[in-house]
Amino acid sequence: MMTTEQQTLEVTKADTRSSERHEEVDLIRVYIMGKRYMVPPTLTIMKAMEYAGYTLIRGVGCRGGFCGACATAYRILGDPKLYFGLACQTVVQPDMYLAQIPFFPAQRSTYDITEMEPIAATLFTTYPELLRCLGCGACTKACPQDIDVRLYMAAGMRGDIETMADLSFDCIMCGLCAARCPAEEAQYNIAILARRLYGRYLAPRSEHLEERLAEIESGAFDEVLMELKGLDEDELKARYKARDIEPK
Ligand code: FES
Repeated sequence: MMTTEQQTLEVTKADTRSSERHEEVDLIRVYIMGKRYMVPPTLTIMKAMEYAGYTLIRGVGCRGGFCGACATAYRILGDPKLYFGLACQTVVQPDMYLAQIPFFPAQRSTYDITEMEPIAATLFTTYPELLRCLGCGACTKACPQDIDVRLYMAAGMRGDIETMADLSFDCIMCGLCAARCPAEEAQYNIAILARRLYGRYLAPRSEHLEERLAEIESGAFDEVLMELKGLDEDELKARYKARDIEPK
């Protein structure tokens, strides 16, 4: 029969073996700020950092791939390539090396969009550095949204506001393009100016929206709105389910 000490030793050994097995089977090795951590391979970079004990206060926002706060650059051991991604969306890989990107202030002009004209000169005078773009494509390689930043910058240099706005539509303003730019451009700030100019002055107006707004303003729906306000939740749900739906 084992003594209490022997039993304790056996339990400790079993625990160690089981945790080693757990490491081998379930966890992968990553490096955060140069320190090694074993983390589950299904986690995103953001969750792996939290799993490793980091409390993220800066560089985290929506956690859904929309706000651009968590832009991250990383390397993989033995691979010379520099990779980019959103920490909330990118899943960890074995031997991933992660470090925080230093904050840098990107050039951002102050303007009143209501006093601007949707012409090429507006882009050039608000952001004169636009014309300094070298077309190297480092920005495109860095974009976690797979936007061809070089292409929209080329459109901007031609003064083509519509194309610049269209090609940059998925931008989440994370700033990785500007971080990599040898010409010190703040591509994302120039692109949002193009989208603002396009949205305010150039985008075709929806005629049926204008008509519907005029109908609402004329009071055409006042009566039915009053009736809906008087319904209880079940009646509202029934009315909603029975509504006319446009054919697919
Ligand atoms: S936290 Fe918002 S994009 Fe990742």
